[in-house]
Amino acid sequence: MLTSQIAIGCDHAGFALKQFLINVVRDRSLKIFDFGTFNEESVDYPDFCRAVTDAVLKSEVERGVLICGTGIGMSISANRFPHIRAALCYSEKMAKFARLHNDANIIVFGSRLVEKEIAKHCLITFLETEFEGGRHQRRIAKLS
Ligand code: RB5
Repeated sequence: MLTSQIAIGCDHAGFALKQFLINVVRDRSLKIFDFGTFNEESVDYPDFCRAVTDAVLKSEVERGVLICGTGIGMSISANRFPHIRAALCYSEKMAKFARLHNDANIIVFGSRLVEKEIAKHCLITFLETEFEGGRHQRRIAKLS
């Protein structure tokens, strides 16, 4: 596993998937910082997004995970921050290329639209795949 410290956050719709993914990560001896939410009471996804993007931007963790119902709200929120590259992933291939080509530092899931097992494999791939660099580095530099 290349990544050793990650932050995770969700809204009420993402709570169950967050708990599931925390266990996946713990089984692999990774350190995970859980920024909530901690139950299924309705909350606003930008608040939980902010906690995770802050941890990534301050380099307190190497990568982040965000979950809401569709993944769209969390993606929109996270990508407002310079140097955040948040990728909404629905397949392992998307997770792999989000790292290889986009150097994504946050993976986003839509808990109402993705199977748990697929999310699990996406997350593992996201954490294990290195950025390819080269021409992709030039493209990423144009984002900021
Ligand atoms: C909450 O119902 C839902 O709107 C939220 O989880 C997310 O899907 C927003 O994009």
